[in-house]
Amino acid sequence: MCGIMGYIGPRDAAGIVLGGLECLEYRGYDSAGVALAEGHKIGISKCVGSVANLKAQLAKNALSGKMGIGHTRWATHGGVTRENAHPHVDPDGKVVLIHNGIVENFHELGEEFSKKGVRFASETDTEVAAFLISSLYKDDPLLAIREACARLRGSFAFVILFSDIDDRYYCVRKGPPLVLGAAAGEAFCASDVTALLPYTHDILFMEDDEIAELSTEGIALYGFDGTRKEARTKTVDWDASMTSKGMYPHFMLKEIEEQGSVLRKTLTGRIGNADEGGSGEESAGKGGIDLNAEFPFSEENARSFRRVHLVACGTSCHAAAVAGRLADKFTGLDVRVEAASEYRSGSVICDAQTLAIFVSQSGETADTLAAARQARAKGARCLAVTNAVNSSLARELGAVLELRAGPEIGVAATKTFMGQLAALTLLVLWIGKRKGNLSREKELRLTEELARLPMKLEKILGQGETLRKMAESYKDAFGFLFIGRGASHAIGMEGALKLKEISYVHAEAHAAGEMKHGPIAILDVHLPVVAIAPKDDLYEKTLSNIQEARARNAPIIAVASEGDEDIRRFSNDCFFVPGTENELTPFLTVVPLQLFAYHLASILGREIDRPRNLAKSVTVE
Ligand code: M6R
Repeated sequence: MCGIMGYIGPRDAAGIVLGGLECLEYRGYDSAGVALAEGHKIGISKCVGSVANLKAQLAKNALSGKMGIGHTRWATHGGVTRENAHPHVDPDGKVVLIHNGIVENFHELGEEFSKKGVRFASETDTEVAAFLISSLYKDDPLLAIREACARLRGSFAFVILFSDIDDRYYCVRKGPPLVLGAAAGEAFCASDVTALLPYTHDILFMEDDEIAELSTEGIALYGFDGTRKEARTKTVDWDASMTSKGMYPHFMLKEIEEQGSVLRKTLTGRIGNADEGGSGEESAGKGGIDLNAEFPFSEENARSFRRVHLVACGTSCHAAAVAGRLADKFTGLDVRVEAASEYRSGSVICDAQTLAIFVSQSGETADTLAAARQARAKGARCLAVTNAVNSSLARELGAVLELRAGPEIGVAATKTFMGQLAALTLLVLWIGKRKGNLSREKELRLTEELARLPMKLEKILGQGETLRKMAESYKDAFGFLFIGRGASHAIGMEGALKLKEISYVHAEAHAAGEMKHGPIAILDVHLPVVAIAPKDDLYEKTLSNIQEARARNAPIIAVASEGDEDIRRFSNDCFFVPGTENELTPFLTVVPLQLFAYHLASILGREIDRPRNLAKSVTVE
């Protein structure tokens, strides 16, 4: 949450910082601001609203400088006002600071300072932190920052300018992500690697409890104890062009349409090509799953697993729920799927015989990280399934299965959900295989079908106009009820989440069999029911639930399998997806729901890539 960008070097800092903020706007867009240092003079410009507002403001009152920092905010402490927008300056004007995170003891510190007569201009925890650093600053900025960090509780990524220092700025990380990059005579910082890609691919991922000094000489890295550390960098192979919308009106649509190629990438090298034979020893013979190179646990470890936990938030949790159904069927393990925020606060049985899988697109979600730390402390074998191999989750767990979806910018996750479905399906089947619960014949059928799915996805993606027209005819709906059974229930939850997130229309999802236990009471002609009813083992039961809803006059939108003529009779609108193996239907049924949500939001004129109140990466609890 909150986007941060900083620059020092020979170029105009304003352009670079604003460009970075535009790229990071998916992290927050309540307000935005920059501070530009021209010698010892620091100019600040900030405003409520988007980076576009800030640019317009700067076009009237330009600021310049060769060193600058900028922030796009997702409000935590203090409302969305210009006063609360970052950067913040301490009341003595010595320190200018931007912040992502929450300083938990800011009330306590604020009261202490207020008693001494300090008057704050904002309601934020950030301004208190700026004053704390300023009050400790004599002539050694590093020492002041270290002493301040020792007094601060909570999580924070800070970028700091000192008004009497014009050749360096400072970054601090304790919790929220900060990445750094250096090129000849320039040094950058940002909340996310995407903002640095136009300038460098050699990235330093700051660890917790680190302070960096950035100058035209490069990056000097220190621990909170003051010891100098090696400035290690990693090369990131994402391309800057991957972070542009291209011809698309929204990132979300672009990312939905990329799902065929994402699926291909996620599967590449992990399933044997049925024509060429599998690549790994395990999959000797044609086809088959091969995670040998990536599965971080020994054969012996894998055999000792008794439990598998799948833990995540939001959309990632829906992918985990789909995988949970598959794990029930193929692993023979005791399976638990839980939202990270719940998992971390319960007394979950979790030990060395537990495989704990943490699923996160960003790898920076605060609850997922906390849950993973807890499971690791209890001795579980932990694995991150993430799109960000250099994220905190991946680094901390050290065991990663990568999604390979490329950068996802739209706040509503779509292509990474597809990557998660693929990675988790392979993982679960791999475990099933090791456990002796997946027959060779079934393995081959599933992998051959997985390889065909990208083509089937592309066929669905070609029917965007059908879904747009369908969305048009439901644009006045009061809300939507999604139903499905088994993995289709999880897909219903994902469909409802997508719709809520970007269209702000109420939507809820229930297991179809639960309808009669309450939700059916809300059905009437104004509440369309979206039924996810592919031709699988649960189809007939779902069809009965559709009839029950129809008998209460609810309009029915069915997502069904091609060739299913029966379902037409009971539905007002049907969208047909190609047939596939029963276990793989989620890959196909989710796509029309993403497109339906996208088009409904577009018809309603919503800010699709920047839905209200949301941020892409939830780095605070
Ligand atoms: O980065 P993560 O996968 O850990 O994020 C989890 C959720 O915050 C995320 O999926 C959220 O629900 C998205 N906005 C869904 O579209």
